[in-house]
Amino acid sequence: MTTTLNVGVIGAGNISALHREVYAKHPRVNLLAVADQNLERAQQVASKEGIVHAYASHTELLANPEIDAVSVCTWNNSHASIAIDALRAGKHVLVEKPMAYNYEQAQEIEAAQAETGKIVQVGFVRRYSENCVVLKDAIDKGRLGEIYYAKTSLVRRVGNPGGWFADVERSGGGPLIDVGVHVIDLCWYLMGRPRVSSVSANAYHHLGNRANIQYADRYLASDYDPTKNTVEDMVNAMIRFENGASLLVDCTYSLHAVADKLEVEVFGTKGGGQLEPELTLAIEQDDRVYNLVPQLTQRSFGFTEGFTNEIHLFVAAALGEGEPVAEAWEGAEIMKILQGIYDSAKAGKEIRF
Ligand SMILES: NC(=O)c1ccc[n+]([C@@H]2O[C@H](COP(=O)([O-])OP(=O)(O)OC[C@H]3O[C@@H](n4cnc5c(N)ncnc54)[C@H](O)[C@@H]3O)[C@@H](O)[C@H]2O)c1
Repeated sequence: MTTTLNVGVIGAGNISALHREVYAKHPRVNLLAVADQNLERAQQVASKEGIVHAYASHTELLANPEIDAVSVCTWNNSHASIAIDALRAGKHVLVEKPMAYNYEQAQEIEAAQAETGKIVQVGFVRRYSENCVVLKDAIDKGRLGEIYYAKTSLVRRVGNPGGWFADVERSGGGPLIDVGVHVIDLCWYLMGRPRVSSVSANAYHHLGNRANIQYADRYLASDYDPTKNTVEDMVNAMIRFENGASLLVDCTYSLHAVADKLEVEVFGTKGGGQLEPELTLAIEQDDRVYNLVPQLTQRSFGFTEGFTNEIHLFVAAALGEGEPVAEAWEGAEIMKILQGIYDSAKAGKEIRF
C-alpha cells in the first residue's frame, strides 16, 4: 500500500491556492508540481511555496511518473480534457466544480474513469462543511422522513467575477454553472441523489456584468477583464426527479435585489432542514413544531473546513484507505441538470429526460 501521495495541481489561480494549502499541510502528501498555461504564475507559486516543479501545461505535469494524483483547478472548458488525460496517465483526479463544460464532456470523464479504474472526485466542497455533515446525518437517520421538496436561492446583487467566468466559451455559462452548481448539488445530495426526470427553466440577460458598480465583496477571476460578458445574469428552474421529488432554484450574478442571499432548504414527510443561511431543523413532536438548533462552531458553510475535509477524503481514497466520494456519475448527473436548465431556457419549454 502507498504510504505517501505525490500530488500535482493544474491551474495556479485563486482556487488552486486553497487546494495547495491543504495538500502542503497534509502529513501524507508531497505537493510536487504545479502547472499553469501562464508559466510565470506557476513559477511564482512554486518558488513561493517550495514546490519542486512548475510546468507550462498539464501534459508536462502528467508526464512526470512520480505524480500519483492531481487537482484540476483550471477554467471549466479544460476540465474534461485534463481529467481524461490524467486518468489515462494513471493519476487519480480531483476535478473542481462544475465537473465539465457540459453534460457530454462529463459523460466522457465518467467513461474514462470506468475504463481506468482511477478515482474521480468532483469538487462539491459544500458537502463537507459541518452544517451539511450534521444535516445529512439527521436525514440518513430518518429524522426528516422522505425528502420530497427542496428550495434554494443564491443571489449575488453584483457578483459577476469577470474574465473567463463571464465568457461562455470558457465557462459554459454564468451563475448557474459557477455557483448554482453548488446549491443544486447540496439539495440533490440531501435529497438522496435521485435521477432527474425533467427541467423547466428561464435565463435572463438584462443587467450584464455591472462592472461599473463599486461593490466591496466581489470575487474576481485571476485575469479580470470587465469588457466581455456573454453569460446569463440569472436563472430560475423547476427540476423534477424520478422519485416524484422536486427542486426549485434561482441563482444570480446580477439582480436588483435588496440584499445578497444564500438559502438552501429541504422538506420531508417528518421534518425539514434549513442548511443555509444557518443550520436549523424543523421537527414535529408531541403535536408541536420544534426548531432545533445544533451547537456547531459555524452553522453556515465553512470555506477552510470544507476544502480541508474535501481534500482529506480525496487523499484517503487515493491512498486506498477510504471510499471515493462525489464520484464521476454524481458530477455527470449534476451536469445533466445544468445542461437541461440551459437547454430548457433556450427552447422556452420543459425538457424531459
Ligand atoms: N469550489 C469552489 O468553491 C470554487 C470557487 C471558485 C472557483 N472554483 C472552480 O475552480 C476553477 C478555477 O477557478 P479560479 O477561480 O481559480 O479561476 P482563476 O482564473 O483564478 O484561475 C484559473 C487558472 O487556470 C489557468 N488555466 C486555465 N486553463 C488552463 C489550461 N488548459 N491549462 C493550464 N492552466 C490553465 C489560468 O491561467 C488561471 O491561472 C473553476 O473551474 C471554478 O469553477 C471552485
